[in-house]
Order: sequence, then structure tokens, then C-alpha cells
Amino acid sequence: MTRLRYRDAGNVLGLPAARWDSAFLRTCRGERAPHTPVWLMRQAGRYMRHYRERRAGRSFLELCKDSELAAEVTVYAREWLGVDAAIIFSDILVVLEALGLPLTFAAGDGPSLTRPIDDAAAVASLGAPEQSAADLGYVCDAIRATVRALPADIPLIGFCGAPFTLASYAIEGGGSRQFARTKAFMYGQPAAWHRLMERLVDTLIPYLAAQVAAGASALQIFDSWVGCLTRADYAAYVAPHTARLAAAVPPGVPLILFGTGTSHLIDLIAASDADVVGVDHTTDLADAWRRCGGPGRVSVQGNLDPALLLGPRDRLLAQADDVLAAAGGQAGHIFNLGHGILKESEPDAVRALVEHVHAATRH
Ligand code: CP3
Repeated sequence: MTRLRYRDAGNVLGLPAARWDSAFLRTCRGERAPHTPVWLMRQAGRYMRHYRERRAGRSFLELCKDSELAAEVTVYAREWLGVDAAIIFSDILVVLEALGLPLTFAAGDGPSLTRPIDDAAAVASLGAPEQSAADLGYVCDAIRATVRALPADIPLIGFCGAPFTLASYAIEGGGSRQFARTKAFMYGQPAAWHRLMERLVDTLIPYLAAQVAAGASALQIFDSWVGCLTRADYAAYVAPHTARLAAAVPPGVPLILFGTGTSHLIDLIAASDADVVGVDHTTDLADAWRRCGGPGRVSVQGNLDPALLLGPRDRLLAQADDVLAAAGGQAGHIFNLGHGILKESEPDAVRALVEHVHAATRH
């Protein structure tokens, strides 16, 4: 089963005209827009004073679960930066917590899952998909509060982790460099691997549908670490599951599929029926777009190196121009970083980047 692509589906959600005609959604459909739309992964985060103030005295997960505060952080970052879309403040790992895996974020250490999955029995003991998705109602509450507060012409992006990237955290118990446990599980216990991927997709389908029902008008799937796989392993162990999730995305909602280090996989990623392919900064944007079928088939998002926000301003803006040149002024390019904003970034540099992209592309 494949879904009707966003380009062809029309405004079946009945969005207000201002949002349907926004530069961001037009570009997701491959239509011309008055300027190149820009938003930035991790646009609400620790580089921003407002975020650090709201985060003070509470844990990261407490902030995610306080729907009013999560909405405030989302809306503030969007407005302060002047970007063309908001992304709901949350995390991909809340789904694993809802499935019954205890999750903590220790200061400076990143996420930790204290009961990692190591066999078929652990997969079988995960929570029921529909109920686990329903337990994430606080994300949908935050989406509703955010949409109420955003200007009518600014779409909100909902998101989830892709099954591979979520499975990697569930199996490793946290972040990883080599993904040794993940790959050992995948090769050594293939039936349990596929069962885990199925359970994740069964949970993510209703979760994404609920985000759309709450008001998200685009969705991004983060497959951040899938670039560690070969083409053959991506095709055998991952693609069918990601494709099933992509096919189940509600009609009338553009799907952005993002990964890093994926230059060798980019055509396979595009084949999963994403409307927009996220390109990281180690991949050539023009080449990636061509290999995904070009502007006639798919839109692209990316791909400035986030580390440029730490360097001199003239270098930052010159490299932004290089990204725009790689897109060649063709309809269907959403400007973004190749990965999330680093916490050391200078807020004024981030804002200057957004202004620059708008000024350089307005016509
Ligand atoms: O982009 C946004 O502004 C929306 C919010 C958002 C966060 N995480 C907030 C966050 C999104 C879309 C994510 C997705 C996410 N989370 C991904 C995929 C994107 C990517 O970066 O590849 C991944 C892999 C995670 C898992 C995760 N969450 C890690 C590895 C960490 C620790 C690293 C870090 O930067 O601290 C987090 C924590 C996290 N998620 C923070 C934020 C703002 C920092 C938490 C804090 O200490 O306040």
C-alpha cells in the first residue's frame, strides 16, 4: 500500500488558506514560494537563553511533559528566529518510555535507557502499541496549545524517530558510535529484530495520526543513525518497516524523512515515498536531489554544517549561499542545517542566518 503523495493529495485536511499557502508547505509540494523557507533542527534548545530559563529547576523530560511550557518554548523559538515553521518541542525517545523502557537524561551524558532490549522476550514484554501511543497524549496537548498560539500562516511540524534509530537506542541503552549491539542483534536474532521493528511501527502509526489530529501540518521522521548501515542491510532490515510507516502517514500531510551520513542510501530513502528528503552536510545537496529523482519528484531539506554557527559570520553566510546555489533556485528546497543546532551556538548568528536566507531568496 502506498499513500497518495502530498503533491497530489490536495488540501484534504481543510487547512486555513494562509497555512496551506505558506512558503514551507508550498515548498513541501514542490511549488514555487516567495522565498526559500527555513527552519532549523533543534531550533528550541540550550543555545537559547529563553530555553535555559524555562528548563531551570526541572528535568528535560519534565519540560517535555508540561504541555503549556513545551508549547511556549516551541512558539518562542519560532518567533524569535523568524523561521517559516515550528517543530513541536519533544523528543524521539518518549516513545520508548511509553513502551515501558525507563528513560533518563543525565546532565551532559545524553539519554540512558536502563533496561535495554537484548532478546525476543524483551521485545514481547513491550507495551501494547495503541495504549503506548495513547499514553503520549501530553505531546498532542502541547501540539494543540502550540497551534492555538502560532500565527495562521506558520505550520507546525510533528515528528517521531524512525524504527531503526529508536531500535538502536532501545538495544544500546543510549547513544552509540559503532552500533555493535544493534548490529549483533539484527544479524544474530533476525526474527526478534523484525518483531521489534514491527512493534515500533505499530506504535508510531497511531502516534503520528494523533499528532496530525491535534494540529501538526507536516511530519518529520528522524532516522538519525541509519547511515551506519550498508545498502544491502538497509534494504533487508530497515526499508520495509520505514516504508510501512511512511505509507500510513495520513493523507494531506507532507512527510520529511531525515538521516545523517546517508549519501550512500539517499535513493533508497527517497524510495520510501517521503515527500521531502532531509540531506545532511556531509552529502552533496545537488547530487542527492538528482539521485532522489530531482525537483519533479521530491523536495529536499538541508544542509548547512551546524558547526558553521560557531565560526566567523562571513564564512557562515558564504556557505549558506553555497547551499542555496546547490539548490539552484529550483522550487522544492527547504533550507535547514545538516543536523541539529549545537548548544555552543551564538543566538545572534542563528538569527542572522535565517535573515540572510530570506533576504537572499526573496523575489
Ligand atoms: O528540533 C527541535 O527544536 C525540537 C525538539 C527536539 C529535541 N530532540 C529536543 C532535545 C527534537 C526534534 C529531538 C529529536 C531527537 N532526540 C533526535 C533526532 C534528531 C537528531 O539530533 O539526530 C535524537 C537522536 C534524540 C535523542 C536525544 N535527545 C539525545 C541524543 C539527546 C542528548 C543530546 C543533547 O543534545 O543533549 C537528547 C536531549 C534533547 N532533546 C535536548 C533537546 C533540546 C537537550 C536536553 C536538555 O538538556 O535540555
